[in-house]
Amino acid sequence: MFDLEGFAGHERVVHVHDPASGLRAILAIHSTALGPACGGCRLWSYASASEAATDALRLAEGMSYKNALAEVPFGGGKAVILGPVPDARRESVLRAFGRAVHAQGGAYVTAEDVGMAPRDMQVIARETPYVSGLAAKDGRAGGDPSPYTARGVRCGIEAAAKHALGRSDLEGLRVAVQGLGRVGGHPCRERAERGARLVVADLDEARTTEICDEHGAEPGPLDTILLADVDLVAPCALGGVLTTEVAERMQARIVAGAANNQLASPEAGERLHRRGIAYAPDYLINAGGIIVVAGEYYGDAEPARIEAAVDRIGERTLDVFERALASGRPPHEIALEEARARLAAA
Ligand code: NAI
Repeated sequence: MFDLEGFAGHERVVHVHDPASGLRAILAIHSTALGPACGGCRLWSYASASEAATDALRLAEGMSYKNALAEVPFGGGKAVILGPVPDARRESVLRAFGRAVHAQGGAYVTAEDVGMAPRDMQVIARETPYVSGLAAKDGRAGGDPSPYTARGVRCGIEAAAKHALGRSDLEGLRVAVQGLGRVGGHPCRERAERGARLVVADLDEARTTEICDEHGAEPGPLDTILLADVDLVAPCALGGVLTTEVAERMQARIVAGAANNQLASPEAGERLHRRGIAYAPDYLINAGGIIVVAGEYYGDAEPARIEAAVDRIGERTLDVFERALASGRPPHEIALEEARARLAAA
């Protein structure tokens, strides 16, 4: 474990195998300094178990920073279930996963990530109370966190546009979106209504066609969507997409999207900065989901309070850009430094 790529002083990493259901999962707890480690569970088919472990480790570390900057009382953690999981075994796999979460005694709280939905959380909740993102109840916010993630990303995009272009409206802005799922696809309607010109790509061609038909978007090339001739690129699929090569060839002025761990390396962030491309750190602007997850978990999910907390992402993002400008350093370094300082202080 200590030699795995992505290991960064994590407090606890648990490998789980449940022979009866076939569950194979990795739970990574990066830090509990600010509260129980919380981060979604991803169900994904990885090329290898070590690739899955690296993903869990990196995502858990990112959650520590996201939660610290969003000022939610959670530490950072994440889980991955190694797919594929056939439908016939899904329930038993999720229940076994719930038991594994429960065995951590509350040190890790799970929720949705890619490949998981609120109904999956409800299955997990039959085995453990250490789960959130179950359902919105009694007029409170909750359930699927992705609308709140999308709302926070919108605030981050506006802040980035204000910083880089001197305007926060989207009228006439050319926007490329990679990944048209819950946080990439659903906001396309609003972006189109606000006058953005969209170029979109998803691995799922039918989804791309659907978004193009519904919102007058243009289909973009799957492999090079991030290099499109646009003003703003929104990576909303998986992580590691901002490589040094992409950073060198990108034409956009702004990168602001929902995907976790977008930078393949700190050097890629450095390149973006040197080229004058404003990169809104992912864990800063995609925290809307964890804000509502925390509200639901701690029983404090009054919708107006949650929305106001999510909207503060805009001010925070602008503040990070302003400090980056004043110090001549990349915004991802400024955000990371602040998050680490908060963890160290806790
Ligand atoms: P999703 O599973 O609903 O959608 C992801 C979409 O990306 C799918 O349509 C998939 O086909 C597509 N995709 C995957 N690889 C691609 C590629 N190489 N090129 C183009 N499309 C590709 O997932 P969701 O919830 O929309 O999340 C997207 C990203 O945002 C993930 O990185 C996730 O960790 C992150 N995120 C999501 C949050 C949420 O509340 N849902 C919260 C914070 C971060």
